[in-house]
Amino acid sequence: MKILVTGGAGFIGSNFVRYQLEHYPDQELVNLDALTYAGNLESLTDCEENPNYTFVKGDIAEVSDIEKLFAEHSFDMVVNFAAESHVDRSLHLGNDTFIRANILGVQILLDAARKFKVPRFMQVSTDEVYGSLGPQGRFTEESLIQPNNPYAATKTSADFLVRAAHKSFGLDVVTTRCSNNFGPFQFPEKLIPLMIANASEDKVLPVYGDGMHIRDWIYVEDHCSGIDAVLRKAKPGSIYNLGGDHDVPNIEIVKLILKALDKPESLIKYVEDRPGHDRRYAMDSSKAKADLGWSPSFTFAEGIKLTVDWYLANKKWWERIRSGDYLKYYEEMYQSRLNN
Ligand code: NAD
Ligand code: DAU
Repeated sequence: MKILVTGGAGFIGSNFVRYQLEHYPDQELVNLDALTYAGNLESLTDCEENPNYTFVKGDIAEVSDIEKLFAEHSFDMVVNFAAESHVDRSLHLGNDTFIRANILGVQILLDAARKFKVPRFMQVSTDEVYGSLGPQGRFTEESLIQPNNPYAATKTSADFLVRAAHKSFGLDVVTTRCSNNFGPFQFPEKLIPLMIANASEDKVLPVYGDGMHIRDWIYVEDHCSGIDAVLRKAKPGSIYNLGGDHDVPNIEIVKLILKALDKPESLIKYVEDRPGHDRRYAMDSSKAKADLGWSPSFTFAEGIKLTVDWYLANKKWWERIRSGDYLKYYEEMYQSRLNN
C-alpha cells in the first residue's frame, strides 16, 4: 500500500503524516509539498528516518511535477491537504495564489489520478464552504454551499471539481469538510497559536470585531482520525462533515488562553473586524459517527492543554517562524487595526 499526501509539511498534513506512519507501519508514504511560507520540514524531523517515508519538493499546480511523481510511484490513495489556507491572506494579499493552489492544483491532481488510475482520491475541504449560520442550527452535508470569503470560494470550487471528476469520469473520490483545527505545529497566524505566542511574549491580543464570532474547534489528531476513517471506509463520491462538538465565541478562547498562561485580560484589544467575517460555524458530524463509527476523542479542555504545553515547550519552532517575512506580514496586516 502506497499513499501520497500533498501539503504534508503544513499544520494538519504534518500531523496526518505522523498519524499514518504510527498507525500503518506496513504502508509507504510519499509527502509532496511546495514548502510555501506555511510548509516547514522542521515539523517532520522525527519522521525523516522512517524507511516508509519519502519527502518530495513539488507543486500541485505544476503538471510536470505531478506527472513525474505519479509516473515514478504507483499510488493506492492520494490525500490532498495542499492549499493556501489563511482567510486573512486571501482578503488582504489577493487571491491569485489561492486560485492557483486551491483550484488549478486540485484539477491537476484529479487529472493525474485519472490518468494513472489511482484507486482513491481524497480532498480535504472545510466547513467554510457552507458560509455562515444564523443563531440556530448546524451545518449538515445537505446545507447550502455559500462561501463568503475568497479562500472559501476557492475551496468550494475545488469541491465542485472533485464532484465533477466523480460524476463525469467515475473517479473514486471522497471529501471531508472539517471545522477549525488546533494543536501542535499550527502556523502562528491562526487564532489559537497567535494568541498563545503573543500572550507568552506579553504582546497585544487582537480580537476582531466584538469577539462573538463562533467557531467549532477540533483537536488536530481527531481530524486526522476522521480523514483516515473516510479514506478507508467511505463510499465513492461521498462527503463527510467532521467537527469537534465545541462551538464557542472567539473571546472565550482568548480568555481561556490568557488564564492558562496566567496573563492579564488587559492584553486583549478589540480591533477592526475581518471583512465578510462569518458569524457562526457549527458542524453536525452525525453522518460520520453513524456510518464510520468515528467521533472526536479529545475534549476541548484536553486538546487546549496539550496545545498550550506544546507551544511553551517548542518556542524555537515558532520563534523562527515569527521573524523575517512573517514579521513583515504581521505588521502590514495588523498595523492599522492596532492603531485604531
Ligand atoms: P497550512 O497552510 O498549514 O499547510 C498547507 C501546506 O500546503 C503547506 O505545507 C504548504 O507548503 C503546502 N502547499 C501550498 N500550496 C502548495 C502547492 N501549490 N503545492 C504543494 N504544496 C502546497 O494548512 P492547514 O491548516 O494544514 O490546512 C491543510 C488543508 O486542510 C487545507 O486544504 C485546508 O483548506 C484544510 N482545512 C484546514 C482547516 C484548519 O482549521 N486549519 C480546517 C478544515 C480544512
Ligand atoms: O473553519 C475551517 C477553517 O478554519 C479552515 O478552512 C481555514 O483553513 C483555517 O484557517 C480556519 O479559518 P478561520 O478564519 O476560522 O481561522 P482563524 O484562526 O484565522 O480565525 C479564527 C477566528 O478568530 C475567526 O473568527 C477570526 C478570529 N481572529 C483571527 C485572528 C487571526 C481574531 O479575532 N483575531 C486574529 O488575530
